Amino acid sequence: MARYAQVHGSVALITLTNPPVNALSAAVRHGITETVTRALRDPEVKSVVICGENGVFCGGADIREFAKPMGGPPLVPMIAAIEEGDKPVVAAIEGVALGGGLELALGCHYRIAHTKALVGLPEVTLGLLPAAGGTQRLPRLIGIAPALDLITTGRHVAAQQALKLGIVDQVTDQSTVDVAIQFAKQVVGQPLLPRKLSTQPTPCPPDVDILLEEAMTQVKRRARGAIAPVACVMAVRAAATLPYRAGMQKEQELMATLFRSSQAHALQYCFFAQRAVGRWKLSSGAHSGNSKPRPVSKAAVIGLGTMGRGITVALVKAGIAVVAVETSDKQLQMGKQIVSEMLKREAQKRNETPRLDLIRFTTSMLELKDSDLVIEAVFEDMPLKKQVFKELSSVCKADAFLCTNTSGLDVDELAAVTKTPELVVGMHFFAPAHVMKLLEVVCGSRSSPEAVATAMYLGKRLGKVSVAVGNCPGFVGNRMLRPYLEEANFLLEEGATPELVDGALEEFGFAMGVFRMSDLSGLDVGWRIRKESGLTGPDVDPSDPPRRRQGQRYSPLPDLVCEQGRLGQKNGRGWYLYDKPGGRVATPDPKIHQLLEEYRLKHGIRPRRVDRQEVVERCLFALINEGFRILDDGIAAGPEDIDMIYVFGYGWPRHRGGPMFYAGMVGLPKVLERLEHYWQAHPDVPHLEPSALLRRLVDSGSPPIDTWRDFLQRPHSQL
Ligand code: NAI
Repeated sequence: MARYAQVHGSVALITLTNPPVNALSAAVRHGITETVTRALRDPEVKSVVICGENGVFCGGADIREFAKPMGGPPLVPMIAAIEEGDKPVVAAIEGVALGGGLELALGCHYRIAHTKALVGLPEVTLGLLPAAGGTQRLPRLIGIAPALDLITTGRHVAAQQALKLGIVDQVTDQSTVDVAIQFAKQVVGQPLLPRKLSTQPTPCPPDVDILLEEAMTQVKRRARGAIAPVACVMAVRAAATLPYRAGMQKEQELMATLFRSSQAHALQYCFFAQRAVGRWKLSSGAHSGNSKPRPVSKAAVIGLGTMGRGITVALVKAGIAVVAVETSDKQLQMGKQIVSEMLKREAQKRNETPRLDLIRFTTSMLELKDSDLVIEAVFEDMPLKKQVFKELSSVCKADAFLCTNTSGLDVDELAAVTKTPELVVGMHFFAPAHVMKLLEVVCGSRSSPEAVATAMYLGKRLGKVSVAVGNCPGFVGNRMLRPYLEEANFLLEEGATPELVDGALEEFGFAMGVFRMSDLSGLDVGWRIRKESGLTGPDVDPSDPPRRRQGQRYSPLPDLVCEQGRLGQKNGRGWYLYDKPGGRVATPDPKIHQLLEEYRLKHGIRPRRVDRQEVVERCLFALINEGFRILDDGIAAGPEDIDMIYVFGYGWPRHRGGPMFYAGMVGLPKVLERLEHYWQAHPDVPHLEPSALLRRLVDSGSPPIDTWRDFLQRPHSQL
C-alpha cells in the first residue's frame, strides 16, 4: 500500500499504491508509517519524496471506512511524524491532493504540484472538517481568509492558483516526481524549522476578530442549517487564537461532534447515492453494465423557450453541435439572441470563446435529417407534442433518438405516434437547464436499453446527475411536488400566511419556501395546467362545491391570486410584493393577507394558529408519502433515486439527505403516526393516507433504507 525505493542513492521515494485514488485506508496509513520510519532511520537517506501511483497523489480518506471502527495507525500522529522528522520531505502532487491527501502534503516540508493537479479540503461536503491538522496547518500556511474560503466551501483549487495562494512551492508540467526528487536533493541541509507548519504562528491581520465574525455570519447564512461549515469556522478561529496543540484539540472535539451527527450521515449517504443512481436497471434485465450508449455528435433542440435555450447552451458547453428549431423567424431571432448572450456569459466565466459556431438556428425541421438525437421542448401541450413527434419521425434519420423534455406528459403516448417508439425517451431537464444538475431520464414502456443508455450518458456529458425513472404523470419529482404544493395551499386556508409557510421550509433548509419558489417559476404556469385539467376555469363541474374538485379537497386560492393579475416575480406581484417586475426582493403583501381573510370569511373557515412544525410535517410528510407510493409502483428504482432527484432538482437541503433518507432519520413510525393523525383530520385529502409501503416497512420493524428495495411490491416494474 506504500512502496519504498531509494533513488539517486540518497532520496527515499515513497509511493502510495491504492487505486484508483490512493485513498488513505488503514493499509495505506500503515504503509506510510512504516516507510517513513524506515527512511528517517536510514543514514544513507538524506531526503524523502512522497507521491502516488498512476498519476494521482491522494484522494483523501477512504469513506467506506467511516462506518467501521477505526483500525490501523491514525492520521494525526502519522502526519506529525513526517513533519517532526529531521529530513526534508517533499510531496509530489499529481492528479489530486484532496482532504486527508492535502493534509498529508501539508505535513510534508515542501509541495511540488503538476500544472493539472487539483488540491482542496472537501470534508465539509461530507458533513465533516479536515481533522488531520488541515484546519490548523492551512491557515498557518496561507492566512485566515483564504483558508476559511477553502475549508468552509470544500472547493478544489487548480495548481496555478494553489501556487499563488502559497499552498504549493512549485508547479511543473514535467514529471512531478522527477522534479520533486531533484528538489529534495537540493534542499538537504537547509533549515527545516520554518517549513514545519505546526511550529509557525498563524499570520493574522489586526482586525482578525472582525474577519472571523463576518465569516461566521456569512457561512451561517449560506449553510442553511448545515453545521459542518460553522464548525469549520470555529476550527479556523482556533488556529488564529490558540497555540497549535490547543488548536488541534479543538479540531478533534469539533470533528467528534460532526462525525456522530445525522448531517454527516446524510451527506455521506448523498455521496454514495449520487454515484449509485448512475447504475440504472430496467425491468427487462438491461442495465448500465450491459447496455451501451450510442455516440451523439449532432443534436437538435425543438423550441427555444425557457427550457430549449438552456438545453442548447448545455449541449454547446459540452462541445456538441446543435440544430435549434423555432416556429417563426421572430421567435427564432429572439431565441438566438438570448442563447448567444447566455453562451457569452458562460464563456466569460470560464475564460473561453463562446462556441456559437456549433449552433445552426433554423425554422425548418428538414435540417434535422442528420441529427443523432433530438430534444423536443415545445409548449406543454399533448396534441402539439404529438404533431411534433410525428414530424420528427418522418424527417429524422431512422436511428435518431427522439427525446422529450415534457415535465409530466405520457412518454408512451408520444412514442406511439412515431415509427421508432423504442428510440423515444424522456429527458426531463430542470430550469435553468444549463445550470441545474438534475436530469430525469424517463423510460417509456417501449424505450430500448440503448435509448436509455444514450440519454443517461448524454446527461453525464452535460455534467448532470441523470436518474432513470418510470413513466407516470409528473414522473418522480413533479408527482411528489403536487401534494407538497397542495398542503401549502391548505395551510393558508386554515390560518397560515405565505411567509409563515416559507419561513418554516427555509428554516428546514430549502433555499426558497414553496410560495417564493412558485413566484419565481411564474404562477400562470400552474394556473394553465389546472385550467387544462378542468380544476379551474370554464370546465369545472358546476356541481362541485367551491373547495372540492373531482371528489377531493381543492384550494382555489392560487387561482384567485392569478385572477388578480398576480403572476409572481415576473410582474412584481405574486404571493409576495417585489421591488420591481422581475425583482428579487420579496416583502409580505398586506393585500394577500386581506385576500386570505376575505376568503376564509367567505368560506366560513375559522382561522387557527398554524405552527412551523405542522408546516414541515404536512408539506414534507405528504411529499414523502408520495415518494413511498412511487417506490411501490416501480417508478423509481430505489430511495436513493428519489433523494438525488430532490437534492439536485428541487433544492432539498443536502445535509438532510433527501426526502426518503430524512423519513428514515425522523423514524418511519413517527412519519406514519403523523400522516395518520393528519389524514384523520383531513379525510378528504387522499395524499395524506399513509402508503402501503410505509405501513409494510413499519410493520417489518422499520428496516434501514438500504434494504427498502426488498419490500417493494413491483421493483423496477415501470423502468
Ligand atoms: P416556453 O413557452 O418557454 O417555450 C416553448 C417554445 O417552443 C416557444 O419558444 C415556442 O415558440 C416553441 N414552439 C412551439 N411550438 C413549436 C414547434 N412546433 N416547433 C418549434 N418550436 C415550437 O416553454 P418552456 O417553459 O421552455 O417549456 C418547454 C417544455 O419543457 C414543456 O414541455 C415544459 O413542460 C417543459 N419543462 C419546463 C420547465 C420550466 O421550468 N419551464 C421545466 C422542465 C420542463
